[in-house]
Amino acid sequence: ATGAVISGWGTALPEKIVTNDELAATMDTSDEWIRARTGIEERRVGGSTAGLSADAGRQALEMAGLTPDRIDALVLATTTPDKQWGTAALVQNELGLSCGAIEVNAACTGFMYALVQAHGMIAMGADRVLVIGTDTLSRITDWDDRGTAPLFADGAGAVVLESVEGAGQLLGWDLDADGSLLSILHADVGGTIKMEGKEVFRRAVRLMVDSAEKAMTHAGVTADDIDLVVPHQANIRIIQAACERLGVPVEKAATVIHRTGNTSSASIPLALADALDHGRVQHGDLVLLVGFGGGMTAGSCVLRW
Ligand code: ACO
Repeated sequence: ATGAVISGWGTALPEKIVTNDELAATMDTSDEWIRARTGIEERRVGGSTAGLSADAGRQALEMAGLTPDRIDALVLATTTPDKQWGTAALVQNELGLSCGAIEVNAACTGFMYALVQAHGMIAMGADRVLVIGTDTLSRITDWDDRGTAPLFADGAGAVVLESVEGAGQLLGWDLDADGSLLSILHADVGGTIKMEGKEVFRRAVRLMVDSAEKAMTHAGVTADDIDLVVPHQANIRIIQAACERLGVPVEKAATVIHRTGNTSSASIPLALADALDHGRVQHGDLVLLVGFGGGMTAGSCVLRW
């Protein structure tokens, strides 16, 4: 059988930092409230989805030691494409790839869907797939709404997935959706994000735990076996509650939300790259990636590093 491993990764954040104090200067909120209720201290704002994607993708290719012609497919997870279509194609062109390129939109769960799709491509014969998660949520944020504006931000993360002989890293996965919950977190085409925060919070914890448990069952492992959890970075309290319900110590969670905010499709690869760059993952470790997002959607992957 053919499996796949992550052989390189990269990240990109816009240069412009927006602090909580800067937000508090334009709306009725405070640094103290935002830190306490979300864990966010600052976020990055700016750039285009294609531009950030290309920066993160280029780094991932370099780390994997691959020239652009070696990539067989580009899968770009984003809920904020630059154009109605063709954002992945722009990235493909920018990076000098000579392969197919597609956008995948599953809100903040997009990277999980993209990663599972990429594994499917490798199972069907592709050798190397570039998977990028990028969002520029600042473009669809209502900057007058204190209920959402402190949360959302921009960024990109990328991984190169390469085929290997044998089992590969992916032991189990799960993808979920429940369209009956779309109304609690949605954005009209051309509009801004509308959210019932409390309800999203409640559902998010449940969706993440259910999805993670399905993926762990599929993988034949339990929460006790997990060495690192890489959760979607929406709210530090959601991460804490999900870890508690899963039975994984919160110290095992990778978190970057304090400095990135919620970057949607980028949040899981940003947190994964941070953990890898800090040497938090050893060969043989069991890594659980788990996301949730609008739709509502959820998804998880269990990887043996
Ligand atoms: N600053 C100060 N006060 C605020 C702010 C703010 N920015 N926002 C809300 N408040 C007030 C509220 O008005 C409320 O006041 P009241 O008690 O007088 O009515 C009080 O603070 C408490 O508000 P809650 O909504 O109960 O606060 P909560 O603890 O639930 O935190 C939050 C709100 C941060 C939005 C939280 O519910 C949350 O994170 N929900 C999940 C959101 C999420 O993850 N969304 C992304 C999903 S992923 C995707 O696909 C985009």
